[in-house]
Parts: sequence; C-alpha cells; structure tokens
Amino acid sequence: MLRDRCEGVTCGWRFVLAAVPGQTPNSAARVALVGLAAAVENGYDKTPHDVPRLSLASVRCPCIRTDVSYLGRIRRSVDCARLTAVSAPTEVPPIVAKALALSHRQGYLRSSRNETGRLLAALAASRNGLLAELGTGCGVGAAWLVSGKHADAQVITAELDPALATSVQKLFADEPGVRVVSGDWTELALHAPFSLLFVDARDAKQNVDALADLMETGGMVVLDDFTPTTSWPPIFEGRVDTLREQWLTDERFTAVEVMVTDDSSVVLATRR
Ligand SMILES: C[S@@+](CC[C@H](N)C(=O)[O-])C[C@H]1O[C@@H](n2cnc3c(N)ncnc32)[C@H](O)[C@@H]1O
Repeated sequence: MLRDRCEGVTCGWRFVLAAVPGQTPNSAARVALVGLAAAVENGYDKTPHDVPRLSLASVRCPCIRTDVSYLGRIRRSVDCARLTAVSAPTEVPPIVAKALALSHRQGYLRSSRNETGRLLAALAASRNGLLAELGTGCGVGAAWLVSGKHADAQVITAELDPALATSVQKLFADEPGVRVVSGDWTELALHAPFSLLFVDARDAKQNVDALADLMETGGMVVLDDFTPTTSWPPIFEGRVDTLREQWLTDERFTAVEVMVTDDSSVVLATRR
C-alpha cells in the first residue's frame, strides 16, 4: 500500500497526514484510515518509527501520488519526503528489533520511537547501577536501555498489563540483568534508588514527589512524548502544560527539555 520507497525512504502515515492541508472532514477521515492501514501494513517496526516527514520545500514524489492517487484531488502536487528526523543508522540493535517485532505482532502502537530509544541507550551507557522503566509496553524502551547498559548494570521495568508483562518476560528471558515486573509501577519502589528512570506510564508522570524519592543523587529521570513549544510556560493545545512546567521547575531536579525529533521532545531531570 504505502510501502513504496521515496528517495530511499519508506513512506508512512505521518507523510500522508502531513501532506493534506485544508482537508474536508470526509477526506480527513479517509486520510486517517489510510494512515491506520499504512501503519498496520508497513509494520510498527518501520512506521511510525524512523519516518521522515513531508517538507513543503522538498522535491515532488511520484510514488506517494500513485499510492494515494485518490487523494490527488485534495492536493495536486504532493510534496515528497525529506528526512527531517534526526540522523541515525537505520539498523537497530538486535534486542530492539525483537521488541519491535513483538509490538508488531501484538498490534501495539504505543512503543517508544527510535529517536527516544537511542537517547535512552546513550544515557544507559553513561550510568551504573539500576536502570528502571515505568510502563514496559512491548519492551522497546527496555530493549534500548539493555542495548546501551554496561554489563554489570541492571534493568528493571514494570507493566500493569499482565499479558504484556508475560510476553516481555519471555522476550528478555536470555538477557542477563533484566527483570520485568508484572504490576503497578509503584511496586518498583522496593528496588530504588535508581540511577536512570524512564517514566512512560501516564499516571506515574504526575507523581513528581514519589519519583523524586526513587532517585539516587545524580540519577536522571526521562519523560517523553512532549510536543515542543517555544513559549514559557509551555503551552500544549492552548493550555499551560502544568506537568511539563512542574518537571522543569521542581527544585529537587535540574531539568531540561530536549527535542528528539522536530515534533517530539523529552524532559531530562537530574536529581540534585
Ligand atoms: C507508552 S506505553 C509504554 C511504552 C514502552 N515504555 C516503550 O518504550 O515502548 C505505556 C505502558 O504503561 C502501562 N501502564 C499504564 N499504567 C501503568 C501503571 N500504573 N503501572 C505500570 N504500567 C502501567 C500501559 O499498560 C502501557 O503498556
């Protein structure tokens, strides 16, 4: 469907959605369906991970126009892909590939993007001790942590959904130093303090006090899935993003927001 390659890059649903400004409600719905189908068809290990986005200033792309030819009337000339994601190898570490394959099999669409994953791996490589994750999903974030960690560092991750937790336990069965806890993230408090903590369960992000208590001095909290903004306080969807504001101003942390792609950012908060 949208598998064709455009300038050597796999086309994906983000392209399509980005490519059709001024759409009517009906066409918007159809584009959304195309996008969903594309995500399923292409596989989550390909899209939306590492998906470049359309740029208005880029060259024309015959393959997109062919693949979604019925959208042609909406936009006569569909812009082609220009790689605006961060520069990175297209290959991922084998354990990450396994986790992405699990995501694909499960139809799980909430796994971390590769750009975030590469940041996790780089941070893991800078740490010793216990690296933790709240909200395992299909194990993609944990796999990136594992790919970067030192041999004697440990990774622990908690997932509320028992079926997911069981799948990921199997995924890491042969990986030394990895533990997948089936249960609420608060159960990881038993294992604190952490030197790195990837907070990827929505309700956990709100618990700044509890998370501050889980960190060793110098330990780093990573929170992803923010939308970059240049304003202060940070605005998201017309409102002050009080969660981000809190993380960026809490006196127990020295924090910074870092863009990992042009449409997503993470907050890094180091425990004082
Ligand atoms: C964004 S996904 C995690 C993605 C994963 N960290 C990755 O890097 O691919 C959030 C996950 O958190 C789990 N979750 C939600 N509430 C939770 C809780 N209270 N404790 C543990 N896990 C939770 C959800 O079941 C979901 O699988």
